[in-house]
Amino acid sequence: MCGIVGYIGDKNCVPILIEGLKRLEYRGYDSAGVGIINTTECKVVKTKGKVSELEKLVYAEKIQSSLGIGHTRWATHGEPSTINAHPHLNEEKTLFLIHNGIIENYLSLKKGLEKEGYKFNSETDTEVLAHLIDHYLKLKHSLFQAVRYALNEVEGTYGICVIYKGESDKIIAAKKGSPLVLGIGNNENFVASDVNALIAHTKQVVYLEDGEIAEIFKDHFTTKTISDETIIKEIFQVEMGIDEISKSGYPHFMLKEIMDQPESIFNSLRGRLVLDEGISKLGGLEGFEQRILDSKRILITACGTSWHAALVGEYMLEQYAGVPVEVEYASEFRYRNPIIDKDDTVIFISQSGETADTLAAMKEAKKKGALCIGVCNVVGSSIARESDAGVYIHAGPEIGVASTKAFTSQIAVLALITLLLARRKNLSLPEGQEIIAEMKKLTDKVGTILKQNDLIKEISEKYSNARNFLYLGRGYNFPVALEGALKLKEISYIHAEGYPAAEMKHGPIALIDDDMPVVFIATKDSVYDKVISNIQEVRARKGRILAIVNEGDTQIEKMVDHVIKVPKTHNMLTPILTVIPLQLIAYHIAVKKGLNVDQPRNLAKSVTVE
Ligand code: F6R
Repeated sequence: MCGIVGYIGDKNCVPILIEGLKRLEYRGYDSAGVGIINTTECKVVKTKGKVSELEKLVYAEKIQSSLGIGHTRWATHGEPSTINAHPHLNEEKTLFLIHNGIIENYLSLKKGLEKEGYKFNSETDTEVLAHLIDHYLKLKHSLFQAVRYALNEVEGTYGICVIYKGESDKIIAAKKGSPLVLGIGNNENFVASDVNALIAHTKQVVYLEDGEIAEIFKDHFTTKTISDETIIKEIFQVEMGIDEISKSGYPHFMLKEIMDQPESIFNSLRGRLVLDEGISKLGGLEGFEQRILDSKRILITACGTSWHAALVGEYMLEQYAGVPVEVEYASEFRYRNPIIDKDDTVIFISQSGETADTLAAMKEAKKKGALCIGVCNVVGSSIARESDAGVYIHAGPEIGVASTKAFTSQIAVLALITLLLARRKNLSLPEGQEIIAEMKKLTDKVGTILKQNDLIKEISEKYSNARNFLYLGRGYNFPVALEGALKLKEISYIHAEGYPAAEMKHGPIALIDDDMPVVFIATKDSVYDKVISNIQEVRARKGRILAIVNEGDTQIEKMVDHVIKVPKTHNMLTPILTVIPLQLIAYHIAVKKGLNVDQPRNLAKSVTVE
């Protein structure tokens, strides 16, 4: 959630921190701050609001330093305000700390520190840790040891960076449950909560694991566990380029990412299709196929949009691979002591690979001996690293807070997994080849939908004053209805609900009047006629209907107010096409309403707190 960046080297850290924070702002954007230490001063500048506000303040101060840390916040404890913004300080203002995560026992720690005379300025849990480290410094420990001792008292999650006037040749960074990555440069080193903040400077990275603490100097670094055992870390090379994290001329990341989909889907499938054998090839699952097929059942767990992809996965795996599948929210799974054992396979879907609930669910499933498979986008992320096996979706960086291209790539990868398992069971060679042939056409078909952007914009704007929306679909289009409603809610703040179309009669139909737009996803599949009956039910109650239909469908067009046409594809790939108009509808309505599409209120990308 919060973004963290730190620098130590020979350059002025201020532009590096500001630029890094801008790249991380999608992680949290309610307040921001930097702390720098140089030979003459220790300075903190922080403010409520965006990094652009902070930038003005910092440059006005004309500060220069080669050691500094920066933070962009998504509030958990204490409202967004300058006082609650990070860095937090000790009383002498010589120690600065930035933190991502939640210190759960902060109240009891605070009480102890108050007894010692420590005074608190903010409502945050983080300030407690700054004073606790100070407490150990006053007991004459080194900064490294002081941080280590303090962390040993902390319950909860953290990714932290600490700098201190008394030892201004280093940054201390530590991780438990919140991501941190070191960037290794030439006579300069970096630390950040994700690689986006580093790749303009270095491609060499070191991922910290939970319970690890690093002492970062400008020309080297050392790592230990918080119980003081030395560990040697591997340096990885990041493949991502800086152009992948820019808007490439689009007004918003979200639109760029929607438009990226022909390429991102192509990349998800690239090198993974074996047409001759009608099967997929997934290196990350090699050697695990039989164990998955022998599983009593497959459980898929995730949050938000990734959970919607999981529902599509359930439909396809049951229909084609013939394995029983259950889908569960990771936040429920982790706390209800689910019955799972070594005969189960659990698939964890996560764009960021850092979602706290999904990661915790994985730990729970691992403890119980299940085979854990990660389906992640961010290479080297915690879920990807901790799973037994996995498949990257290769959608490329997703910066817009509303997930778009990750969803279509998640479905593409779930289809690849389905194909792999189904072919080892009952799916025939021609059926497998037919699926592959359709997969290969996806790039062009997605392109055809995107070409209708102007039409979709025109239609969407007609609905921008609506206060409620209903999204209805059946079969593979039911999770798409949920996803369409979520997209609209999160960026346009219009209340929207997704339902299986037939469920409408069991309650939501009461909402329908001439003020209520209903979006039907009504492609030509086995439930097409049933959806037409549902459309008639809405029509009879004067609801306004916008339908996503297949090209060549003339029947529905006559019954509804507007249609958007998508090409036909294999039924299990349908969601990849039908969701795209819904992403564009949400986008255009939010833009029409003048809202900040990439940074919707109250949200943050990568939910690393529970
Ligand atoms: C919605 C959205 C969220 C995420 C959810 C899971 O547009 O982005 O609902 O899908 O927070 O995130 P990941 O996939 O990173 O685990």
